[in-house]
Amino acid sequence: MKKTAIVTGGSRGIGLGIVKQLGKDGFAVVITAASPEERHRATLEELTKNNIEYLYVQGNIADHNDRMKCVDRAIEKYGRIDVLVNNAGVAPKERNDILNMTEESYDYVMNTNTKGTMFMTQYAANKMIQQEPIDGIRGIIVNVSSISAEVSSTNRGEYCVSKAGISMLTKLYADRLASEDILVYEIRPGIIETDMTSTVKEKYDRLFAEGVCPIKRWGTPEDIGLAVSALCSGKFRYTTGQCIFVDGGFHIQRL
Ligand SMILES: NC(=O)c1ccc[n+]([C@@H]2O[C@H](COP(=O)([O-])OP(=O)(O)OC[C@H]3O[C@@H](n4cnc5c(N)ncnc54)[C@H](OP(=O)(O)O)[C@@H]3O)[C@@H](O)[C@H]2O)c1
Repeated sequence: MKKTAIVTGGSRGIGLGIVKQLGKDGFAVVITAASPEERHRATLEELTKNNIEYLYVQGNIADHNDRMKCVDRAIEKYGRIDVLVNNAGVAPKERNDILNMTEESYDYVMNTNTKGTMFMTQYAANKMIQQEPIDGIRGIIVNVSSISAEVSSTNRGEYCVSKAGISMLTKLYADRLASEDILVYEIRPGIIETDMTSTVKEKYDRLFAEGVCPIKRWGTPEDIGLAVSALCSGKFRYTTGQCIFVDGGFHIQRL
């Protein structure tokens, strides 16, 4: 029987990179995203062409009932959840100096990125706990944070705070769930070429040319997919709570 992976925000960008890789690895993939399925028709047809088994569930990750619906539909169809990848996330609609940041923008970003990940994990983990382990592992949870979890960008402070929160909730769940045979990891992407970064493309093109990263290129959704795949292989079975940078070496302090 195929293992099952839920990938939130799996319709585009990094999430789609993860979906494609896990599909290639043999997982049945439950894709959750904000838009109706119709919007992603071409993408989903491509998955089918590549023999990737998927279920699409539309839902807002910030909404309690939608989170439950995603998990429940996955279990209804596939019987269990082996992997949860909490990838869905948003940037502030407008970059704004932290001295002018609005409470509305803070709530939007925090509710989606941090509260969404916190309570999606809680609901899915409670389901995973009821499953029989396979090769000693009941489930694997991967949270997609960002280098912004520790790098200051004063014009999108709410995003940085939301990602720092994901780092801490990764540690909390890793600690709590180890005794339940559930492993929890954080993937910390650097600058990845997706719709989210399309509005700041020129700025980052320049920074890459100037050597902002030791590996002098944009990261790709495939780069993140491969890292998530490695964590979901079960080969890191004596590792939990770990943060893996997938950032072209950006985090290395250099002189
Ligand atoms: N791009 C980067 O450089 C970068 C770097 C570090 C970390 N990250 C993080 O990586 C994750 C993915 O980023 P990305 O660049 O791939 O973003 P993206 O291209 O903007 O894609 C966002 C995905 O999340 C879904 N989504 C958005 N809001 C949602 C909501 N409220 N409920 C459910 N799904 C929602 C979207 O669904 P629809 O397609 O239906 O709208 C889409 O699938 C985010 O958590 C982001 O913070 C990105």
